Amino acid sequence: MENIDVKIDDGIGYIYFSRENKLNTITVDMVNEIMNSMDNLKDKVKVVIIEGKKNFSAGADINQFKNINPIDAYNFHLKLNELLKYFREYDLPIISVLNGYALGGGLELSLSTDIRICSAHAILGQPEINIGINAGAGGNVILSKVIGRNRALYLILTGEKIDAKKAYEFGLVDIISDDPENEALRIAKIIKEKPLTTVKLAKRVVNKSFDASLDLSIDYEATVFGLLFSDGETKDRINKFFKK
Ligand code: COA
Repeated sequence: MENIDVKIDDGIGYIYFSRENKLNTITVDMVNEIMNSMDNLKDKVKVVIIEGKKNFSAGADINQFKNINPIDAYNFHLKLNELLKYFREYDLPIISVLNGYALGGGLELSLSTDIRICSAHAILGQPEINIGINAGAGGNVILSKVIGRNRALYLILTGEKIDAKKAYEFGLVDIISDDPENEALRIAKIIKEKPLTTVKLAKRVVNKSFDASLDLSIDYEATVFGLLFSDGETKDRINKFFKK
């Protein structure tokens, strides 16, 4: 693959963005490579970590927008939407590691991963407004749900880049670490020892609750709770608890 590297180690899958010389800016080919690789990882690992080496991503590759027609621009956005929905619906937990720049589409994609860890030197923002476009992968819609309408509008309307500390205060990242890769690994190792079916269903219940009423969501939560009593590993763990 040209835009990403993939690794499997000890039950953890890694997707490394590898367009470092272009600050890991996102192209349609890159999006397709990510989804194809993650399809292949599904039955081989229990957690996926997504990262860049020096930078996470400086957003969409602006070169694609040179002379682009409106329909192709719309389709490009749909492609990014496909990826963010793919992340949300992906069976397994996804941890994103934000080093360096996490801007525009890069930041937006990380918002649709499950746990976001950033380095103390990360720089985050939605600079699209500086070239007159709006955010292209949920950066208006999902961002405002994650950090609140007002903070989202501050980032969207000013295009200002913020540091890790402010991003953490905003709730734009979950954890700041001096060694975000190790922190991601530490968390991935904890999750991979948990019962896989429970992990998958917990992610599902949380994500489904964003699209459904509270009433339906808590009912679905109860259904999953009941369903898990048919899972061998759940039964084993409960029995072990009582034996202790
Ligand atoms: N699309 C395409 N290329 C990009 C890019 C983007 N979004 N962001 C950076 N690059 C390229 C630069 O053109 C440069 O390429 P070159 O070496 O061939 O000239 C390379 O990545 C390094 O960027 P550079 O600007 O030299 O690095 P910097 O450290 O001075 O600044 C940024 C980094 C991220 C602050 C700056 O590049 C920037 O503002 N990029 C645009 C970010 C953006 O608007 N993202 C949303 C896109 S919709």
